[in-house]
Amino acid sequence: MAIRNIVHEGDDILRKRAKEVPEINARIIMLLEDMADTLKEQEGVGLAANQVGVLKRIFIADVGDGVIELINPEIIEVRGKQEEEEGCLSVPGIIGMVERPEYVKISALNRSGKSVIYEGTELLARVFCHEHDHLEGMLFIDKAKDLRSASDEEEEDL
Ligand code: CO
Repeated sequence: MAIRNIVHEGDDILRKRAKEVPEINARIIMLLEDMADTLKEQEGVGLAANQVGVLKRIFIADVGDGVIELINPEIIEVRGKQEEEEGCLSVPGIIGMVERPEYVKISALNRSGKSVIYEGTELLARVFCHEHDHLEGMLFIDKAKDLRSASDEEEEDL
């Protein structure tokens, strides 16, 4: 287990489409463990693998109920709309309003290779979309309006 360095905006890896994970092996499990340690240390709510320099379709989320791990995630249903301020561990000090669906249903593999489905509303729905965007090479600043500098208390890091 280890804390990994967070890649910041300007690094190409954040602008590439992450690759499918063909096999869940010991390296992938170690990556998941390290990502959880890193997310906790950063006090974030979501982290995609390319944010720690690994171009694979993996992200984790923790909105307060423990870490959820998603491998090869696919958004299968969205409903409604919400607009809230977002930040990103890869774009420190900046926040902006982003429109997201109110409800998101997502399928993925868990670390055992089993198919899982999660449903999220409010913050979890936003995290699912924000992290999925990372895997497509997209950042919240591409979609946000009213980008501005954030105070430490305001920052909510996805
Ligand atoms: Co982010």
